Formats: sequence, structure tokens, C-alpha cells
Amino acid sequence: MSTFKTIDNLDVAGKRVLVRSDLNVPMHDGKPSDTTRIDRSAETIRDLAAKGAKVIILSHFDRPKGKVVPEMSLKPVAEAMASALGRAVTFATDTIGDSAKAVVAAMKDGDVAMLENVRFHAEEEKNDPEFAKKLAQLGDIYVNDAFSTAHRAHASTEALARHLPAAAGRLMQAELEALGNALEKPQKPVAAVVGGAKVSTKMEVLGNLSKKVDMIIIGGGMANTFLFAQGHDVGKSLCEKDMAAEALKIIADAAANGCEIVLPVDLVVAAEFAAGAANKVVGIDGIPADMMALDVGPATIADVEKRLARCKTLVWNGPFGAFEIAPFDKGTNAAAQAAARLTREGKLLSVAGGGDTVAALAHAGAADDFSYISTAGGAFLEWIEGKTLPGVAALEG
Ligand code: 3PG
Repeated sequence: MSTFKTIDNLDVAGKRVLVRSDLNVPMHDGKPSDTTRIDRSAETIRDLAAKGAKVIILSHFDRPKGKVVPEMSLKPVAEAMASALGRAVTFATDTIGDSAKAVVAAMKDGDVAMLENVRFHAEEEKNDPEFAKKLAQLGDIYVNDAFSTAHRAHASTEALARHLPAAAGRLMQAELEALGNALEKPQKPVAAVVGGAKVSTKMEVLGNLSKKVDMIIIGGGMANTFLFAQGHDVGKSLCEKDMAAEALKIIADAAANGCEIVLPVDLVVAAEFAAGAANKVVGIDGIPADMMALDVGPATIADVEKRLARCKTLVWNGPFGAFEIAPFDKGTNAAAQAAARLTREGKLLSVAGGGDTVAALAHAGAADDFSYISTAGGAFLEWIEGKTLPGVAALEG
């Protein structure tokens, strides 16, 4: 278990507390379309404000790559945070500049402010000590509540902890405690569901996970890359053909680790990626050249259900298919509902993480029955892999 200070160990009254939250939320028409991260980050902010701190929220949003990208401003997020807190959140239009300095200088005890996207500065992702020092000048205490960004060694998640007295926020604490309780010594067999679009972004994860779990059930677009690598024609399906050799290596390495890579045995295909598109179920050798796989088929669903029933622990990241467009949500819904039912019956400990995953489980009506849902995606997977998360390590230092 991690050892770090929490906000209970700090005297924050009258102090400027820089809180690094992860408010990287999905946005639709300029408004957060899912406020889970905002809602779950609000507790720390509420707590600190109630204790008389001046709470200054730092976060990244999206990947502006060190430039000011107006569409990636945190302003709409500050407005959503104000609604979640039921109080005003003053927004600074820069991160370390005149606006930030003026906003912070005008704060009274118990006030809440949010600074503009830390990633508008290239120094953030470089973990630049000078940038961290400038951020540190805006506060007296640093609280890192961004478990879901803790896998990034960035200035606001790592270097800043060296400049100010540092502690974990409530959400950081809750995530580490829940994941530790569930997965430090998991009951076997352990299954991992790993879905999503690309193998290339999850290569390392798959390799490391295969040393820890008994089976990895591959879903989503990345399954097509594996099927292609095994010689199946995938038609117009999403597929990273240049990752074929890597995919085969993952399967071989996993087998050597005693971990089975489970792939779809049938698929639902359509000619276009559209809700309600005409579709049919085909075997993995039957994808027509002008069609694409958008979901797993009924035989795969039955196979996954059978496997989950034999497992004691499940970690889930990534959907099985294009769950956001019916009817291609069937595979994800069925697997999620099976995991939820097994959890309800006390037969399975189920932990899920990742923005898409949480949305998919909620869509399936299964989220409330999972044992724990993390706000993290990448960090969740790296934690499960057993990697040191720089943002957590910095708090322990
Ligand atoms: C996430 O959404 O997983 C975190 O906010 C990290 O975002 P990043 O992958 O852009 O670093």
C-alpha cells in the first residue's frame, strides 16, 4: 500500500492550495458530456474550501501539444465544476501569467479558482522544473488528486511535488485504496477485458498484463488487428496492418506466460459506421471485402459469458464494439451485464477503468453493479500492470 500524506495531515486554513485534478472530460458542443471526473474531483475541492483554503485547481484538457488551442480551454470545465460545487469558480485565462497571478492574489479564504489548461505550455509535458517552480509560486501547498494522470511525469503531476509540501487528494486516495484492496492479491482466475480501437496504444499493457492475468479477452477494433495477423481478411474494418507482427508476438509471449489471448469467434459486420446500419453476423473468415466489423457476434458473447463465469476477478478496459451506435452495442452490453450479474451474485470481483469503458458500462446499465469503477484509463492499466506511477511516487518521496 502506498504511504503518503493526505489532506487530513495538512493545515490548509488561509493557505493557497494548488490542487492538480484530472478534468480531462469528454466534450460535446462545447460542454462536458460526462461529468464523472468533475463530480469525483469535487470532493477534495469542497473539503479544502470548507477548511478555509484558497483552492486553485490545475488540470490539463486534451492534448494541445504546448500551444494555446482555444477549443481546448478549461473554461467550460470551470463552469461545470461551479455547478458541481454549487459555488463560484473564478477562471484565470492563463496558467502562470498575469491572469493567474491576479486571480490568485484576489482570492479569499474558502474561494475556488481554476487556471487555464497546463498543457498550453510545452514545459508541462517536459516535466520542466522551471515551469513547476512558476506553478509553485502560485501556492503554498500541493495536493495531487489526479490519479488518472499519475502515469504521466509532467510538471503539474510530478515536479511540483518537489517544490511544495505535497499530499494526496481524496480521489487519489480512494482510487489507490480501492484498486489495492481489489487487485494487489487477486483471486484467480483473473480475466482482463481489453478493448478499444488500437493495438499500438496498448502493446506494452498487453505484454505486461499477460504476466499477471490468466486470460486477456480482446475486444473492439484492436481485435481486427489480431485477426488480420492470424491471416483473416478483415475487409474495411479498423485494423493496424503494420502491427500484425507485434500482435503475433503478444499471442506467443502470452502463451509462454500461461495467459490465453481470447479473440472473437464471430462478428457483426456492416457496410458503414452508422447507427442502425444494415448488418449481419459472420464468422471470422467471412468478413466481406466491402464491410467492416462493428461488434462481436452471438457466439463470441456466449464464449465470453462462459469464461467470465469461471473467473473470480475481472479487470475491464475498453468496449467490445462500436457501443455508441446501436445495434452495435449488443456485445458490450451483454458482456457488461454478465459481469454485473456475477458481481451481484458475489461470484466475481469486477473493476473497470477508462472513459469509454465507464460510458459503455453505464450505457449497458451495468456500472452500478461493478465492484469498483476507476476514473482512470491509462493510469488504471499501468497500475494494474504493476508499474510505478510517477505522480504517486512523487507523493511518497
Ligand atoms: C486520461 O484521460 O487518461 C488522462 O487525462 C491522461 O490524458 P493523456 O493520455 O492525454 O495524458
